[in-house]
Amino acid sequence: MACPIGNGACPAGGQSNGEAAGAEKGENYWTYLHLDKILSAQALKSGAAGAVVHDEHLFIIVHQAYELWFKQIIYEIDSVRQLFMTELNERRMLDIIKQTNRVVLILKLLVGQIEILETMTPLDFLDFRDHLSTASGFQSLQFRLLENKLGLKKECRVKTKSDYSAPYHDHPELMEQIRDSEEQPSLAALVERWLERTPGISAKGFNFWDRFQGAVKAMLNDELKAAQAVANEAQRKEEVEAVNRRSVLFDSIFDVKLHDALRARGERRWSHVAFQGALMISFYRMEPRFNQPYQLINLLMDIDELLIKWRNNHVQIVQRMIGSQQVGTGGSSGYQYLRATVSDRYKVFLDLFNLSTFLIPRQYVPPLSRAMQFRLSHSISMGTSEAHEFLCDAGRDDDSSSEEAESAPGPVS
Ligand code: HEM
Repeated sequence: MACPIGNGACPAGGQSNGEAAGAEKGENYWTYLHLDKILSAQALKSGAAGAVVHDEHLFIIVHQAYELWFKQIIYEIDSVRQLFMTELNERRMLDIIKQTNRVVLILKLLVGQIEILETMTPLDFLDFRDHLSTASGFQSLQFRLLENKLGLKKECRVKTKSDYSAPYHDHPELMEQIRDSEEQPSLAALVERWLERTPGISAKGFNFWDRFQGAVKAMLNDELKAAQAVANEAQRKEEVEAVNRRSVLFDSIFDVKLHDALRARGERRWSHVAFQGALMISFYRMEPRFNQPYQLINLLMDIDELLIKWRNNHVQIVQRMIGSQQVGTGGSSGYQYLRATVSDRYKVFLDLFNLSTFLIPRQYVPPLSRAMQFRLSHSISMGTSEAHEFLCDAGRDDDSSSEEAESAPGPVS
């Protein structure tokens, strides 16, 4: 592609000598990127009736840059969702990791980008704030699509005077996009289904959950014995109580009804089986077949964490610019509303963060049976039929074969 600017050409319209190198395709840097549209989209309001406020230019550019990156993130998330919806194979899994990682890197950039806007002082902002009228980031369609496509549920949103979709009520085509993003399977929902197929959790095969419960029981017994052996009475009481509290905590994952009750309250998001899958992957992450799933789990947590960091940085700049008592131009309570969004209720992969609560010391982790070890020893990237099976056997009882295999003298071949 020709670079008209590099050739000293005037970029206005790309009709210059800079077009020469790309002329055969009819494109040059300027036209290919539609820079005429992008670079003429900074219409400062402050200049229209009075002096131009220098910082309004930065304010517009920063927001536009955000929107462009939101667009790219949505593009990647849509692609990852699509990959989950089609039959998975090892190549697609690599694409999922690659694209999710890209989203993480973009979000890192976006978290840092807000600092540039902090070079503007509150008085500079006040000089043009009135020109914003009712315009507000609250109306960012792409931000809402992104939240929904990741899996943020309506009931988890902080309540505001008007519904989050109110800005689009008069725009049927935008409302359609919002509805679509609410109704289509979100990334969180697709990951949940995928985790439910983790090999090794089926009761007919390795039965991870049964073994894990046994391991936890043994661990708690040891802890109780140690607590009861403490000489000092007050300390002994305290330590025994601590073990009992831990036991109650584990009950919340062993008792499906308790798990479902927490789910109904929004404190857990995924099905009990998906939770088992995620826990199993965490324990046996070193096994080749779990390497990529474990990487993905971490990337998903990065996404949640970075969005929370963005919300936090944003709320800080808002307080710095307009204080904590002014309502926003979008009609919310401003700072107070935004501060409430910096919370776990906005974490769509909350269950992954909670996994660490239930990790147990290595010596208690149930050892893999030889058959299971073999099943997990095939790296996905090897492209074996086993790996393929793991990635795409929706709903199949993938442990049924390992029943026989467990009694076999050596690894199944
Ligand atoms: C001077 C800097 C900024 C100020 C004072 C500011 C102010 C606000 C306020 C007060 C709200 C609450 C809604 C309302 O208006 O009532 C809001 C929401 C929002 N703003 Fe900003 N903002 C700033 C910069 C940015 C930037 C750079 C972005 C980047 C895209 C952004 C995106 C958003 C989004 C997406 C929301 C909706 C958040 C939610 O509902 O969870 N804002 N902003």
